[in-house]
Amino acid sequence: MKANTRRDNRLAFDTVAEAYDRARPTMPHGLIVSIVRITGMWNGDRVLEIGAATGQLTRPLRAAHLNVTALEPGERLRALLERNVAGDPGVTVRPGLFEDYDSSDDGPFSAVFSANAFHWIDPDVSYAKAAGMLRPDGHLVLLWNFPVVEDPALRDALNTRAFADYPDFVRDERHQPRIEALAAEGREELAASGRFDFPWWQTRTETLRFTADTYLQLLISYANGAVLDDDARQDLEQRVRAVLDDRGAETITVTNHLYALVARRADQ
Ligand SMILES: C[S@@+](CC[C@H](N)C(=O)[O-])C[C@H]1O[C@@H](n2cnc3c(N)ncnc32)[C@H](O)[C@@H]1O
Repeated sequence: MKANTRRDNRLAFDTVAEAYDRARPTMPHGLIVSIVRITGMWNGDRVLEIGAATGQLTRPLRAAHLNVTALEPGERLRALLERNVAGDPGVTVRPGLFEDYDSSDDGPFSAVFSANAFHWIDPDVSYAKAAGMLRPDGHLVLLWNFPVVEDPALRDALNTRAFADYPDFVRDERHQPRIEALAAEGREELAASGRFDFPWWQTRTETLRFTADTYLQLLISYANGAVLDDDARQDLEQRVRAVLDDRGAETITVTNHLYALVARRADQ
């Protein structure tokens, strides 16, 4: 994805750490296993994960037998991450921003992974710094996911009634082409950095189910939800619940659109 030009809200997720932990989907095991195969990694290889939050990618990386240094600047997110990986010697949790991170105690890495976080880093820094932490044959692996309510009638009702005053939350037919355009611009950014070769990318979907409570937590776990004040959050919650109640929707089926990009470190 193209890097955000405004990065003011990059640490807002820490204010909604509990909701983040409960609602945000983990990366699918099958996707991580195919990336391990494509990159030629082996059990026990060391990888860096940037912006780990509470472990949405960390745990799938461990399930794929990689040793993970998980970097997370948010204090509350990091505490939940430490709880979620407690007792696992294959995870080292580090505090701080990627821009400030010194990898000399942990690297070099077979891969630098980041899920839903790389676009929060200045692209003048992100690609060059990631390349510098990799082994010569190492890879950059960038992942994103975009959950969208599956039922068009429910999606319309949420868009027109619940999100009428919260346009950032609207997901309609214009959403997917926008995501694809941002992904293409991100690939141009990667190429312009001159630090990576042979980009490979894939999109896939999975189906997820949420209760009303976890769906509400999912909404506020995004930067635009995390920055709402208490009144706005309550208002949004009431409107969403009203739509779900009217439609008798006890569970919400969501199509999670995943985008993965893998690129090999260029010879330096
Ligand atoms: C949207 S969350 C993604 C979390 C998780 N990887 C996932 O896929 O759900 C973005 C994460 O990146 C972290 N983050 C933001 N800016 C960062 C930076 N400059 N360096 C390292 N992490 C950063 C935030 O604290 C947050 O945990």
